[in-house]
Amino acid sequence: MSTHPPTGQQPPQQGTLPATALRGVGQRPFGIYVHVPFCATRCGYCDFNTYTADELAGGGSFRGWLDALKAELELGARVLGEGDRAVPRAETVFVGGGTPSLLGGEGLGEVLDAVRASFGLAPNAEVTTEANPESTSPELFTALLGAGYTRVSLGMQSAAEHVLRVLDRKHTPGRAVAAAGEAMAAGFEHVSLDLIYGTPGESTDDLRGSLEAVLEAGVDHVSAYSLIVEDGTAMARRVRRGELPMPDEDVLAADYELVDGILSKAGFDWYEVSNWATGEAARCAHNIGYWRGGDWWGAGPGAHSHVGGVRWWNLKYPSRYAAALGEGTSPAAGREVLDAEDRRVERVMLELRLREGLTTEVLDDAGVAEARRAVTDGLLRDDELRAGRCVLTDRGRLLADGVVRRLVG
Ligand SMILES: C[S@@+](CC[C@H](N)C(=O)[O-])C[C@H]1O[C@@H](n2cnc3c(N)ncnc32)[C@H](O)[C@@H]1O
Ligand code: SF4
Repeated sequence: MSTHPPTGQQPPQQGTLPATALRGVGQRPFGIYVHVPFCATRCGYCDFNTYTADELAGGGSFRGWLDALKAELELGARVLGEGDRAVPRAETVFVGGGTPSLLGGEGLGEVLDAVRASFGLAPNAEVTTEANPESTSPELFTALLGAGYTRVSLGMQSAAEHVLRVLDRKHTPGRAVAAAGEAMAAGFEHVSLDLIYGTPGESTDDLRGSLEAVLEAGVDHVSAYSLIVEDGTAMARRVRRGELPMPDEDVLAADYELVDGILSKAGFDWYEVSNWATGEAARCAHNIGYWRGGDWWGAGPGAHSHVGGVRWWNLKYPSRYAAALGEGTSPAAGREVLDAEDRRVERVMLELRLREGLTTEVLDDAGVAEARRAVTDGLLRDDELRAGRCVLTDRGRLLADGVVRRLVG
C-alpha cells in the first residue's frame, strides 16, 4: 500500500470520525490492513514506507511497533464501535509491508491475536500475509496456518537471476517457487506469487521463464505489475545517470499480453487488470474491498484507512507513530473527507479495472458519450455497454488509465 501522504486536513486527536462516515459501518465490506515497516535490505526500486535496521538506528523496534499496533487496533475498535454501535468484525485481514515474514510465526501470530482481541474476526475471514521468499521456511508456514492465516502472498518478481539482481532482490531464482510449494504442503489452499515485468535487461524469454516457473509452482493467484521507476529511489538515480534504461511503453504492453496469454491458457482468469486467479475462491477478497469502495482500517506507520468516504493516513516514521499512541492519541497525520464528486471519480478509477467493470450510472452525460467512443476505439465492450456496464476489452486493459481519464473528463 502506497504511503505518500496526500494533502488534507488535520485529524482529531482521538481519531473520531463524523457520524456520516460511521453510518453503514458493518453493512459495507470491512477489512484490516496491518503495515509491517521492516525489511532486511531495501530494494532499489521500492518506495514503500519500510526501514532496514540501519535506517531505524534505535528509533523503532519490533516490540515497540507491535505494542503501538495493538494500541491502534484498540483505538480503531473504540472509534468504529462508538456509543452503542457494534464493532465491525474483520471479514479480511491483510498483513503487508515491508517484510511481514521477518516477524516469524510467533510475531505474525501476535499480530492476528491483536486483531481478534480488538475487532474480532468474521467467520471464514480471509487472512493474508505477504512474505519474502528468503525469509520463509516450512516451519513458518505451519505456524502461520496454526495461527489462523488462510492465504500467503510471496514476492517472487522474476525467476531470472540477472533480473533479480537489477531489482536488488535477495532470493535465489528457485526460492519463490520452492516457498510456494512449502506453503501448500503445510496446508495453505490459497497462495499467490507477485511478478514484476519490464525490469531493465529482462528479455521476453526471461519473462516467459518466470511465468513457466509460476505455473510449475501450482499457485491459485498471480499479481503482475509493470516496474514503476519511483522518484527518489536508487533505481531512479541509476536511470538518471544513464546506467539503466527506462522501461519502454511498447515493451511493457507486449509483456502484459504475454503474461495474460500464458496465464489465461493455464486456467487463470483476470479479475483486476493486474491480478489473475484460478477461480472465485482464489481472488483476494481484501483487495476487492479496496477496489469496491469498502471500509478498511489501516494500522501501522504510514498506513492509509477509508471509512464511509473519509480517508486518513498515519505518521510515517515508526518512532513518531509509536510515540503518538504511547501518549494515548491517534497516530493519524492527515485526513480527507471525500465529496460526492471525489467518490464518483474514485469509483470510475477503481471499478473500471475490474473484470465486472463499472455501471454507467456512475458516469455523467459526457462520460457516457465518451464510453460510446471508447467502444468505437475498441477499448470497451459493445455488448456490455448496451447492458449498462463499462467493461474493458483486452486492448482496453493495456490502456486502462487512459480510458479512466476519458470517462471522468
Ligand atoms: C512493497 S512489496 C511488499 C511485500 C514484499 N516485501 C515484497 O517485496 O514482495 C509488495 C509488492 O509491491 C511490488 N512493488 C514495490 N515497488 C514496486 C515498483 N516500483 N514497481 C512495481 N512493483 C513494485 C513488490 O515488488 C511486491 O511484489
Ligand atoms: S522487500 Fe519488498 S517492501 Fe522491502 S524494500 Fe523490497 S520490495 Fe520494498
